[in-house]
Amino acid sequence: MNHQLSDLSPEGLRAFVGEQLERSRARTVQLTDAVDTDDLVRQHSKLMSPLVWDYAHIGNQEELWLVRDVGGREPLRQDIDELYDAFQHPRADRPSLPLLGPAETRTYVTEVRDKVLDVLDHVKFDAGRELVDNAFAFGMITQHEQQHDETMLATHQLREGAPVLDAPPPPTGRSLSSAEVFVPGGVFEMGTSIEPWALDNERPAHGVHVKPYVIDTVPVTNGDYLRFVLGGGYEDPRWWSEAGWAHVQKASLVAPRFWSQVDGEWWRVRFAHQELLPLDEPVMHVCFYEAEAYAKWAGKRLPTEEEWEFAARFDPSTGRTRRFPWGDESPGPQHANLGQRHLRPAPAGAYPAGASPLGVEQLIGDVWEWTSSDFRPYPGFRAWPYDEYSLVFFGPDYKVLRGGSFGTDEVVARGTFRNWDYPIRRQIFAGFRCARDPRPEELHA
Ligand SMILES: [Fe+2]
Repeated sequence: MNHQLSDLSPEGLRAFVGEQLERSRARTVQLTDAVDTDDLVRQHSKLMSPLVWDYAHIGNQEELWLVRDVGGREPLRQDIDELYDAFQHPRADRPSLPLLGPAETRTYVTEVRDKVLDVLDHVKFDAGRELVDNAFAFGMITQHEQQHDETMLATHQLREGAPVLDAPPPPTGRSLSSAEVFVPGGVFEMGTSIEPWALDNERPAHGVHVKPYVIDTVPVTNGDYLRFVLGGGYEDPRWWSEAGWAHVQKASLVAPRFWSQVDGEWWRVRFAHQELLPLDEPVMHVCFYEAEAYAKWAGKRLPTEEEWEFAARFDPSTGRTRRFPWGDESPGPQHANLGQRHLRPAPAGAYPAGASPLGVEQLIGDVWEWTSSDFRPYPGFRAWPYDEYSLVFFGPDYKVLRGGSFGTDEVVARGTFRNWDYPIRRQIFAGFRCARDPRPEELHA
C-alpha cells in the first residue's frame, strides 16, 4: 500500500482491492472457523459481541457501502440492518437479539462478497465520486473487516477452553545501547492529506510544534512492569491520578489482566495457553490508568499523541514526515510485528529495521501504545463519509492509542492511524512507552 495508489492503472487498483478483500476475508474465516458453533454464538465477555455478530456485521457494512451505495444495487437483506447497527445495540445486549445463526451468517456474507466482486469489476474509479476516488470505500471496508478481526482476536483472548489458535514465535530481541532517546522537537507535519485510504480523523496534515522531550526506545516490558507490581505500585495512591486510584480500588486491580502468581512465579494466559511471564516482551492488557501510574512511579509520564507521532515519523535530516518510522515503504515482516503473524508481541529490540530516524523502535506493531491525549479532531477536520466513525467519539472520554498491535493488519497500521478507547479498557492489545521532559543538562548538551 503506498501513496502511489493513485498512480495505479484502474486495472492495477482493481487487482489491489481484490487482494485486500481476499486477505481480510481469509482472516475472518480463520478466526471464526477456529471455534465450534457454540463458541460462535456465545458471549465470551460482556465487553465483546458474540463472534457471529461481528461476522454478520462485517457483511452488513460491506453490503451497505459497497453493494448499495457504491454499486447502486438492490439490498440483499434490508431486514437485518438494524440488528447489525453497532449504534442501535450495545455489545452487552447483542446476544439477546434474533441474530443470524452461524450457517445463515456464512451464507449471507458470501452472497454479499459475490455481489461486491461484481461491483468491483464494473466500478469506474474516476467517475468523480469522492467515495470511489482511489477506491476509498473499498479501502474503508477492508480496513473495517481487519479492525473487526482484531476485535475478534481480543474475543479469542477472553474465551475460556482449550487453545484453538497458534502461530510461530516472533523474532528474538536484543539488548539496546540506550533505553531512551532525546528528541530535539520542532515543527513537523502531523496527520495526512495524501494517504488515499486514511480515515477522516487522520486528516488533514497540519503543522505542530513539539518541545524537546525524551522517549523510551522501546515499549515498557513485562519485566519492567513487574517491578512496579512487586514494589507495591497498586497499593500506593501516590502514583495514581484521582480517577485512576478510584478505578483501581473499585475494580480491585493488582496486576495486568491475564497475569497470575502461582507459588512465587508469574504466569500469563495467551489465547488459552498458560505461559511463564516472558519478561522481555512489551507489557499488555493494561488500562490507561495503569500506564499512567507506572510512568509516574518511574519518574516519567506518557507521551502526548503529538510526541508519539513526532518520534515515529519525523526525519531530522530532511525535515520531512515519513509514512512509517523506517521510511515510506509499506510494512514488511522485517519492520514490524503486525497482521496476526505471531500471536504475541515481540521481545524488546526484535525489530532494528523498524527504527525511526531518531532511533525509536517498535512504534508500529507489537502493542497499541496509550498516549496522554484525549481523542480530538485535527484542525480542519471534516467528518467523512459518516459521522459515526469519529465525530461522535471526540472529547475527554477517550484516550488515544497509536501504532497498532501484533493483531492489527498492515492495511490499518498507518503511521497516522488513530485508535481510541476508554481509559479503563484492558481487553485490547495495549501497552505503552514512557516519555519525560529533558533535564537541563540534556537540553544544553
Ligand atoms: Fe463495525
